[in-house]
Amino acid sequence: MIRKTKVSVKICVGTACFVQGGADLLLYQDFLDPVVLANCDIEGVSCIGGCKDDTLKTRPPYIQIDDKIYGEMTQDKMCALLSEVVHA
Ligand code: FES
Repeated sequence: MIRKTKVSVKICVGTACFVQGGADLLLYQDFLDPVVLANCDIEGVSCIGGCKDDTLKTRPPYIQIDDKIYGEMTQDKMCALLSEVVHA
């Protein structure tokens, strides 16, 4: 089943994230499934706070899906996470 509302996705393009792989995540149109793409509102934003939050215990790059921040993000992890959220 696909969610009724679009998933909010913010890709951090702050310096810490951008230089540690965040730039690769901005190529999302090349690696995300078209169904996932159609069901997400994706935008690049400046620092989303993950790099300053010691409780996360992860490193950049960070993305935010709805109101949750995920670190050490890769294209593969982003594909899997968004597919899971869209089809939840
Ligand atoms: S620069 Fe990306 S979370 Fe701070």
